[in-house]
Amino acid sequence: MSNETNGKSGYLVEVEDLKQHFPIRTGFTKTTLLKAVDGVSFKIRPGETLGLVGESGCGKTTVGRTLLRLYEPTDGRIFFEGNEVTKSNMREYRKEMQMVFQDPYSSLDPRMTVEDIIGEPLDVHKLYSTKSERRDKILGLMSLVGLNAEHATRYVHEFSGGQRQRIGIARALAVDPKFIVCDEPVSALDVSIQAQVVNMFEDLQKQLGVAYLFIAHDLLIVHHISDKIAVMYLGRMVEMADADELMDNPMHPYTQSLLSAVPIPDPETARKQKRIILEGDVPSPLNMPSGCAFRTRCRYATERCSAECPPFTDRGNGHMVACWEK
Ligand SMILES: Nc1ncnc2c1ncn2[C@@H]1O[C@H](COP(=O)(O)OP(=O)(O)O)[C@@H](O)[C@H]1O
Ligand SMILES: [Mg+2]
Repeated sequence: MSNETNGKSGYLVEVEDLKQHFPIRTGFTKTTLLKAVDGVSFKIRPGETLGLVGESGCGKTTVGRTLLRLYEPTDGRIFFEGNEVTKSNMREYRKEMQMVFQDPYSSLDPRMTVEDIIGEPLDVHKLYSTKSERRDKILGLMSLVGLNAEHATRYVHEFSGGQRQRIGIARALAVDPKFIVCDEPVSALDVSIQAQVVNMFEDLQKQLGVAYLFIAHDLLIVHHISDKIAVMYLGRMVEMADADELMDNPMHPYTQSLLSAVPIPDPETARKQKRIILEGDVPSPLNMPSGCAFRTRCRYATERCSAECPPFTDRGNGHMVACWEK
Protein backbone atom coordinates (compact mmCIF):
# COMPACT_ATOMS: atom_id res chain seq x y z
CA MET A 1 0.00 0.00 0.00
CA SER A 2 1.07 3.49 -0.83
CA ASN A 3 1.85 4.74 2.67
CA GLU A 4 4.17 1.81 3.33
CA THR A 5 6.29 2.58 0.27
CA ASN A 6 6.88 5.98 1.83
CA GLY A 7 7.09 8.18 -1.22
CA LYS A 8 8.42 5.50 -3.57
CA SER A 9 5.08 4.59 -5.15
CA GLY A 10 5.96 6.82 -8.09
CA TYR A 11 2.66 8.66 -7.69
CA LEU A 12 2.35 12.27 -6.64
CA VAL A 13 -1.28 12.14 -5.56
CA GLU A 14 -3.31 9.07 -4.61
CA VAL A 15 -6.94 9.13 -3.63
CA GLU A 16 -8.55 6.02 -2.14
CA ASP A 17 -12.29 5.60 -1.83
CA LEU A 18 -12.94 9.29 -1.17
CA LYS A 19 -16.41 10.17 0.13
CA GLN A 20 -18.09 13.48 0.77
CA HIS A 21 -21.60 13.26 2.19
CA PHE A 22 -23.30 16.56 2.99
CA PRO A 23 -26.13 16.51 5.56
CA ILE A 24 -29.06 18.38 3.98
CA ARG A 25 -32.16 19.49 5.86
CA THR A 26 -35.08 17.97 4.03
CA GLY A 27 -37.81 18.60 6.57
CA PHE A 28 -38.51 20.25 9.90
CA THR A 29 -36.64 17.58 11.84
CA LYS A 30 -35.24 15.48 9.04
CA THR A 31 -31.80 15.53 7.43
CA THR A 32 -30.78 13.44 4.46
CA LEU A 33 -27.24 12.73 3.32
CA LEU A 34 -26.38 14.11 -0.09
CA LYS A 35 -23.67 11.78 -1.38
CA ALA A 36 -21.82 14.30 -3.55
CA VAL A 37 -18.79 12.03 -3.79
CA ASP A 38 -19.28 8.38 -2.97
CA GLY A 39 -16.14 6.29 -3.23
CA VAL A 40 -13.78 7.82 -5.79
CA SER A 41 -10.21 6.53 -6.32
CA PHE A 42 -7.45 7.67 -8.69
CA LYS A 43 -3.70 8.26 -8.91
CA ILE A 44 -1.72 11.01 -10.60
CA ARG A 45 2.00 10.89 -11.41
CA PRO A 46 4.29 13.92 -11.19
CA GLY A 47 3.85 16.22 -14.19
CA GLU A 48 0.78 14.30 -15.40
CA THR A 49 -2.76 15.52 -16.10
CA LEU A 50 -5.88 13.61 -15.11
CA GLY A 51 -8.97 15.08 -16.77
CA LEU A 52 -12.24 14.80 -14.84
CA VAL A 53 -15.51 15.09 -16.76
CA GLY A 54 -19.22 14.64 -16.12
CA GLU A 55 -22.43 16.66 -16.16
CA SER A 56 -22.96 19.58 -13.83
CA GLY A 57 -23.74 18.43 -10.29
CA CYS A 58 -21.99 15.04 -10.55
CA GLY A 59 -19.42 15.96 -7.87
CA LYS A 60 -16.33 17.19 -9.76
CA THR A 61 -15.77 20.34 -7.72
CA THR A 62 -16.40 18.44 -4.50
CA VAL A 63 -13.71 15.89 -5.45
CA GLY A 64 -11.23 18.76 -6.00
CA ARG A 65 -12.12 20.59 -2.81
CA THR A 66 -12.15 17.47 -0.65
CA LEU A 67 -8.85 16.31 -2.12
CA LEU A 68 -7.29 19.64 -1.04
CA ARG A 69 -9.04 19.19 2.31
CA LEU A 70 -10.94 22.45 1.90
CA TYR A 71 -13.72 20.13 3.09
CA GLU A 72 -13.01 17.40 5.62
CA PRO A 73 -13.68 14.07 3.83
CA THR A 74 -16.49 11.88 5.15
CA ASP A 75 -14.29 8.90 4.41
CA GLY A 76 -11.34 7.80 2.31
CA ARG A 77 -7.63 8.50 2.22
CA ILE A 78 -5.43 11.00 0.40
CA PHE A 79 -1.69 10.50 -0.16
CA PHE A 80 0.88 13.02 -1.37
CA GLU A 81 4.23 11.57 -2.48
CA GLY A 82 3.25 8.38 -0.67
CA ASN A 83 2.48 10.04 2.67
CA GLU A 84 -1.03 10.25 3.99
CA VAL A 85 -2.47 13.77 4.20
CA THR A 86 -4.51 14.04 7.38
CA LYS A 87 -6.37 16.73 9.25
CA SER A 88 -3.40 17.27 11.55
CA ASN A 89 -0.58 17.40 8.97
CA MET A 90 -2.44 19.05 6.07
CA ARG A 91 -0.72 22.40 6.69
CA GLU A 92 2.56 20.87 5.47
CA TYR A 93 0.88 20.13 2.15
CA ARG A 94 -0.94 23.45 1.65
CA LYS A 95 1.94 24.83 -0.38
CA GLU A 96 2.26 21.73 -2.58
CA MET A 97 -1.37 21.54 -3.70
CA GLN A 98 -3.13 24.59 -5.10
CA MET A 99 -6.41 25.33 -6.85
CA VAL A 100 -7.40 27.49 -9.81
CA PHE A 101 -11.10 28.37 -9.68
CA GLN A 102 -13.81 28.30 -12.26
CA ASP A 103 -14.85 31.92 -12.07
CA PRO A 104 -12.04 34.45 -12.36
CA TYR A 105 -14.59 37.22 -11.76
CA SER A 106 -15.53 36.20 -8.22
CA SER A 107 -12.41 34.36 -7.02
CA LEU A 108 -10.09 37.40 -7.02
CA ASP A 109 -10.53 40.27 -4.54
CA PRO A 110 -11.54 43.42 -6.49
CA ARG A 111 -9.93 45.73 -3.91
CA MET A 112 -6.46 44.27 -4.40
CA THR A 113 -3.91 45.08 -7.08
CA VAL A 114 -2.44 42.31 -9.21
CA GLU A 115 0.80 42.66 -7.25
CA ASP A 116 -1.02 42.12 -3.95
CA ILE A 117 -3.03 39.18 -5.24
CA ILE A 118 0.07 37.34 -6.47
CA GLY A 119 2.13 38.51 -3.49
CA GLU A 120 -0.31 37.30 -0.83
CA PRO A 121 0.71 33.60 -0.94
CA LEU A 122 4.37 34.73 -0.91
CA ASP A 123 3.59 36.67 2.29
CA VAL A 124 1.62 33.83 3.88
CA HIS A 125 4.38 31.29 3.27
CA LYS A 126 7.22 33.82 3.86
CA LEU A 127 8.86 33.07 0.55
CA TYR A 128 11.17 36.13 0.33
CA SER A 129 13.60 37.98 2.52
CA THR A 130 13.59 41.48 1.05
CA LYS A 131 10.99 43.75 -0.56
CA SER A 132 12.89 43.70 -3.84
CA GLU A 133 13.03 39.89 -3.86
CA ARG A 134 9.24 39.88 -3.37
CA ARG A 135 8.80 42.26 -6.29
CA ASP A 136 11.12 40.23 -8.52
CA LYS A 137 9.20 37.05 -7.76
CA ILE A 138 5.88 38.73 -8.58
CA LEU A 139 7.20 40.12 -11.86
CA GLY A 140 8.69 36.73 -12.74
CA LEU A 141 5.33 35.03 -12.15
CA MET A 142 3.51 37.69 -14.19
CA SER A 143 5.85 37.19 -17.12
CA LEU A 144 5.44 33.39 -16.78
CA VAL A 145 1.69 33.72 -17.42
CA GLY A 146 2.05 36.38 -20.11
CA LEU A 147 1.20 39.54 -18.14
CA ASN A 148 3.20 42.78 -18.52
CA ALA A 149 5.09 44.38 -15.64
CA GLU A 150 2.97 47.54 -15.91
CA HIS A 151 -0.12 45.49 -14.98
CA ALA A 152 1.25 45.03 -11.44
CA THR A 153 -0.37 48.10 -9.90
CA ARG A 154 -3.75 47.68 -11.62
CA TYR A 155 -6.95 46.27 -10.14
CA VAL A 156 -8.70 43.09 -11.27
CA HIS A 157 -11.72 44.88 -12.76
CA GLU A 158 -9.45 46.42 -15.37
CA PHE A 159 -8.78 43.01 -16.89
CA SER A 160 -10.60 40.67 -19.26
CA GLY A 161 -11.69 37.19 -18.14
CA GLY A 162 -8.68 35.54 -19.80
CA GLN A 163 -6.25 37.94 -18.11
CA ARG A 164 -7.97 37.43 -14.76
CA GLN A 165 -7.51 33.70 -15.13
CA ARG A 166 -3.80 34.32 -15.82
CA ILE A 167 -3.64 36.29 -12.55
CA GLY A 168 -5.32 33.37 -10.75
CA ILE A 169 -2.78 30.94 -12.21
CA ALA A 170 0.17 33.18 -11.26
CA ARG A 171 -1.22 33.28 -7.72
CA ALA A 172 -1.52 29.48 -7.60
CA LEU A 173 2.04 29.12 -8.96
CA ALA A 174 3.52 31.63 -6.49
CA VAL A 175 4.22 28.93 -3.89
CA ASP A 176 5.78 26.58 -6.49
CA PRO A 177 3.22 23.78 -6.06
CA LYS A 178 3.66 20.28 -7.49
CA PHE A 179 -0.06 19.79 -8.02
CA ILE A 180 -2.91 22.08 -9.08
CA VAL A 181 -6.63 21.34 -9.14
CA CYS A 182 -7.91 23.30 -12.15
CA ASP A 183 -11.67 23.55 -11.64
CA GLU A 184 -13.21 24.35 -15.04
CA PRO A 185 -10.63 27.11 -15.51
CA VAL A 186 -11.82 28.06 -18.99
CA SER A 187 -15.58 27.40 -18.77
CA ALA A 188 -16.38 31.02 -17.90
CA LEU A 189 -14.18 32.43 -20.68
CA ASP A 190 -15.08 33.37 -24.25
CA VAL A 191 -14.71 30.38 -26.56
CA SER A 192 -12.26 32.46 -28.63
CA ILE A 193 -9.73 32.65 -25.80
CA GLN A 194 -10.26 29.23 -24.21
CA ALA A 195 -7.60 27.61 -26.43
CA GLN A 196 -4.99 30.25 -25.46
CA VAL A 197 -5.53 29.64 -21.77
CA VAL A 198 -5.56 25.84 -22.16
CA ASN A 199 -2.29 26.06 -24.12
CA MET A 200 -0.82 28.17 -21.35
CA PHE A 201 -1.68 25.45 -18.81
CA GLU A 202 0.15 22.97 -21.06
CA ASP A 203 3.21 25.21 -21.50
CA LEU A 204 3.42 25.82 -17.77
CA GLN A 205 3.28 22.08 -17.14
CA LYS A 206 6.14 21.48 -19.58
CA GLN A 207 8.24 24.22 -17.99
CA LEU A 208 7.50 23.52 -14.33
CA GLY A 209 6.60 19.82 -14.24
CA VAL A 210 3.41 20.52 -12.27
CA ALA A 211 0.63 17.88 -12.25
CA TYR A 212 -3.03 18.78 -12.81
CA LEU A 213 -6.42 17.45 -11.94
CA PHE A 214 -8.14 19.22 -14.82
CA ILE A 215 -11.90 19.45 -14.33
CA ALA A 216 -14.06 20.41 -17.31
CA HIS A 217 -17.28 19.47 -19.02
CA ASP A 218 -15.91 20.00 -22.53
CA LEU A 219 -14.52 16.62 -23.61
CA LEU A 220 -12.48 18.06 -26.49
CA ILE A 221 -10.60 20.39 -24.13
CA VAL A 222 -10.06 17.58 -21.63
CA HIS A 223 -8.82 15.23 -24.36
CA HIS A 224 -6.41 17.89 -25.59
CA ILE A 225 -4.74 18.48 -22.23
CA SER A 226 -5.07 15.15 -20.37
CA ASP A 227 -2.91 12.03 -20.16
CA LYS A 228 -5.79 10.13 -18.56
CA ILE A 229 -9.50 10.89 -18.36
CA ALA A 230 -11.97 9.94 -15.63
CA VAL A 231 -15.75 10.16 -16.12
CA MET A 232 -18.05 10.76 -13.15
CA TYR A 233 -21.77 10.19 -12.80
CA LEU A 234 -23.63 11.10 -9.59
CA GLY A 235 -20.68 10.94 -7.20
CA ARG A 236 -19.00 7.86 -8.63
CA MET A 237 -16.50 7.13 -11.35
CA VAL A 238 -17.95 5.13 -14.20
CA GLU A 239 -14.92 5.00 -16.50
CA MET A 240 -11.22 5.90 -16.51
CA ALA A 241 -8.55 5.26 -19.15
CA ASP A 242 -5.68 6.82 -21.07
CA ALA A 243 -7.07 9.86 -22.89
CA ASP A 244 -6.84 8.47 -26.45
CA GLU A 245 -8.15 5.06 -25.38
CA LEU A 246 -11.18 6.64 -23.68
CA MET A 247 -12.02 8.76 -26.73
CA ASP A 248 -11.47 5.91 -29.25
CA ASN A 249 -12.98 3.09 -27.25
CA PRO A 250 -15.50 4.37 -24.70
CA MET A 251 -17.09 1.39 -22.92
CA HIS A 252 -19.53 2.82 -20.41
CA PRO A 253 -22.92 3.77 -21.89
CA TYR A 254 -22.70 7.14 -20.11
CA THR A 255 -19.29 7.93 -21.64
CA GLN A 256 -20.63 6.81 -25.02
CA SER A 257 -23.52 9.23 -24.75
CA LEU A 258 -21.24 12.11 -23.66
CA LEU A 259 -18.97 11.42 -26.63
CA SER A 260 -21.80 11.13 -29.11
CA ALA A 261 -22.74 14.73 -28.25
CA VAL A 262 -19.25 16.05 -29.08
CA PRO A 263 -19.25 17.84 -32.45
CA ILE A 264 -16.96 16.20 -35.03
CA PRO A 265 -15.21 18.53 -37.50
CA ASP A 266 -15.10 15.97 -40.34
CA PRO A 267 -18.59 15.79 -41.99
CA GLU A 268 -17.99 12.23 -43.30
CA THR A 269 -17.29 10.86 -39.81
CA ALA A 270 -20.03 13.03 -38.36
CA ARG A 271 -22.64 11.46 -40.68
CA LYS A 272 -21.67 7.98 -39.51
CA GLN A 273 -21.81 8.92 -35.87
CA LYS A 274 -25.01 8.00 -34.10
CA ARG A 275 -26.14 10.47 -31.52
CA ILE A 276 -27.20 8.79 -28.33
CA ILE A 277 -29.80 10.92 -26.66
CA LEU A 278 -29.94 10.39 -22.93
CA GLU A 279 -33.47 9.78 -21.75
CA GLY A 280 -34.81 11.35 -18.59
CA ASP A 281 -33.12 13.75 -16.21
CA VAL A 282 -30.19 13.22 -13.89
CA PRO A 283 -31.74 11.75 -10.73
CA SER A 284 -31.55 13.85 -7.57
CA PRO A 285 -28.45 13.02 -5.53
CA LEU A 286 -30.79 13.07 -2.52
CA ASN A 287 -32.77 10.21 -3.99
CA MET A 288 -30.29 7.95 -5.73
CA PRO A 289 -31.45 4.93 -7.70
CA SER A 290 -30.48 1.56 -6.21
CA GLY A 291 -27.61 -0.35 -7.82
CA CYS A 292 -26.01 1.50 -10.70
CA ALA A 293 -27.02 5.18 -10.52
CA PHE A 294 -27.00 5.45 -14.33
CA ARG A 295 -29.47 2.59 -14.89
CA THR A 296 -32.52 4.91 -14.99
CA ARG A 297 -31.16 6.46 -18.20
CA CYS A 298 -29.34 3.46 -19.62
CA ARG A 299 -30.68 1.52 -22.61
CA TYR A 300 -28.75 -1.59 -21.61
CA ALA A 301 -30.03 -1.75 -18.03
CA THR A 302 -31.13 -5.13 -16.66
CA GLU A 303 -32.48 -6.30 -13.30
CA ARG A 304 -28.99 -6.87 -12.01
CA CYS A 305 -28.23 -3.15 -12.54
CA SER A 306 -30.95 -2.13 -10.09
CA ALA A 307 -29.97 -4.81 -7.58
CA GLU A 308 -26.23 -4.32 -7.30
CA CYS A 309 -23.79 -1.49 -7.87
CA PRO A 310 -21.27 -2.58 -10.53
CA PRO A 311 -17.63 -2.70 -9.37
CA PHE A 312 -15.00 -0.52 -11.08
CA THR A 313 -12.89 -3.14 -12.86
CA ASP A 314 -9.86 -3.16 -15.17
CA ARG A 315 -10.78 -4.28 -18.70
CA GLY A 316 -7.14 -4.33 -19.80
CA ASN A 317 -4.29 -1.81 -19.81
CA GLY A 318 -5.80 0.10 -16.91
CA HIS A 319 -9.06 0.85 -18.75
CA MET A 320 -11.45 0.91 -15.79
CA VAL A 321 -15.22 0.58 -16.19
CA ALA A 322 -18.13 0.23 -13.74
CA CYS A 323 -20.85 -1.57 -15.70
CA TRP A 324 -22.50 -5.00 -15.57
CA GLU A 325 -23.47 -5.08 -19.21
CA LYS A 326 -20.38 -3.73 -21.00
N1 LIG B 1 -21.19 22.60 0.41
C1 LIG B 1 -22.20 21.84 -0.05
N2 LIG B 1 -23.25 21.52 0.73
C2 LIG B 1 -24.25 20.72 0.28
N3 LIG B 1 -24.33 20.21 -0.95
C3 LIG B 1 -23.31 20.49 -1.80
C4 LIG B 1 -22.20 21.33 -1.41
N4 LIG B 1 -21.34 21.43 -2.46
C5 LIG B 1 -21.89 20.71 -3.46
N5 LIG B 1 -23.07 20.15 -3.06
C6 LIG B 1 -23.92 19.25 -3.88
O1 LIG B 1 -23.11 18.17 -4.27
C7 LIG B 1 -23.38 17.77 -5.61
C8 LIG B 1 -22.12 17.85 -6.43
O2 LIG B 1 -21.77 19.22 -6.60
P1 LIG B 1 -20.44 19.71 -7.33
O3 LIG B 1 -19.28 18.99 -6.73
O4 LIG B 1 -20.42 21.19 -7.30
O5 LIG B 1 -20.68 19.18 -8.81
P2 LIG B 1 -19.97 19.62 -10.19
O6 LIG B 1 -18.71 20.38 -9.86
O7 LIG B 1 -19.70 18.32 -10.90
O8 LIG B 1 -20.97 20.44 -10.92
C9 LIG B 1 -24.50 18.67 -6.08
O9 LIG B 1 -25.73 17.99 -5.90
C10 LIG B 1 -24.40 19.88 -5.18
O10 LIG B 1 -25.65 20.50 -5.03
MG1 LIG C 1 -18.12 22.29 -10.45
